[in-house]
Amino acid sequence: MDSIGNFIPGKVKGEDIKDALNGELGISIEADKKTSEKVLYVSKALKSNGKVEGVLRFVTSLSEVDIIIKKISFMLIFIGIAVIIMAGIISVFISNSITRPVREVTAMARKMASGRFNERIEKKRNDEIGELFDALNFMADEILKNEKIKNEFVASVSHELRTPLTSIKGWASTMRTGDFSDREELENGLEIIENESDRLTKMVEELLDFSKFVSGKITLKKDYIDIRNTIEYIKKQFSLRAWRQNINFSVKVQDNMPLVLLDENRIKQVLNNLLDNAFKFTQEGGKVNLKAFMRDESLIMIVGDTGIGIPEDELPRVTEKFFKGKSDKCSNGIGLSICKEIVSLHGGKIEITSELVKGTEITLTIPLEDS
Ligand SMILES: Nc1ncnc2c1ncn2[C@@H]1O[C@H](COP(=O)(O)OP(=O)(O)OP(=O)(O)O)[C@@H](O)[C@H]1O
Ligand SMILES: [Mg+2]
Repeated sequence: MDSIGNFIPGKVKGEDIKDALNGELGISIEADKKTSEKVLYVSKALKSNGKVEGVLRFVTSLSEVDIIIKKISFMLIFIGIAVIIMAGIISVFISNSITRPVREVTAMARKMASGRFNERIEKKRNDEIGELFDALNFMADEILKNEKIKNEFVASVSHELRTPLTSIKGWASTMRTGDFSDREELENGLEIIENESDRLTKMVEELLDFSKFVSGKITLKKDYIDIRNTIEYIKKQFSLRAWRQNINFSVKVQDNMPLVLLDENRIKQVLNNLLDNAFKFTQEGGKVNLKAFMRDESLIMIVGDTGIGIPEDELPRVTEKFFKGKSDKCSNGIGLSICKEIVSLHGGKIEITSELVKGTEITLTIPLEDS
């Protein structure tokens, strides 16, 4: 008999009933033969004293459930389509707001590549893209600035090269047309020609060396050296200049210095440049000193002078390539940039303190290598 009260004659068939008679929970879904609607059957055996007496079968139509599932499916499909459309709109919007500025940046970069550094892009936003615009404009500024400095450098070098050439040419002409019996004048002229040629050679060598630095082609040839010998050599080299300029030049080196792994010629070049500056910017009667000692596993060398000093606003820029001060003694502005390069190739650093009129002190710190 079913739950409505209908008596069903004969045996009731169904997978769920078989399962129930086997002692399990029987579940099956079948289509009704007459109405063809889906029906769910759930059956369970009824037992008394362990013996199966019958089967209790629960029957319900699934059409309501199907309607709800359909409703939910439609809703989900609708939401899905809405999300896809929204995502589409948003991505078009975002890609427009990113690709357009990126295209502008690309166009600007192309212009720069063809040498048009005067153009700028207008910054319209304050986000990362805006920063990119700023960076690009800044780069163009820097390139222009460097270009200007380079042109000035070429001009000043050409000027420097012309001076000795003029005097060589002048003396050569004088000697050709002059009186050969005046032995003294002849000697004089030849000496000047020789000195000026030396000066030219030295200048050209320095320039070549410098261009190697700029293109990063410098490599160090390190050896274990006794820094006392190096400094003794430098001391001899500058003693004559100190005497000529009437400058008190003192050199102090710590006694028990260990051998240090350095490129001696390059370190000589650094000390040369620093002392050249010190002597150049110190007046007669002033002092220049050079000290070397070990501290915290590093070689420290200090070049101090009582010269004109460096203005505070120029201090951070003096080691830049081509930077030179306003004094008429300043020449090419490459000495300190080469020093900085050599010292950093040795893994060290260069620190400058200076006070106008009082003087300048430059400290080199080169760490000892264990390798
Ligand atoms: N000891 C110093 N006293 C005062 N000013 C200094 C001193 N050393 C460097 N400067 C300043 O720093 C600038 C850069 O120095 P740097 O040695 O690079 O160039 P330079 O001496 O002018 O030219 P170069 O060394 O190429 O012949 C100098 O022009 C000068 O203004
Ligand atoms: Mg110099």
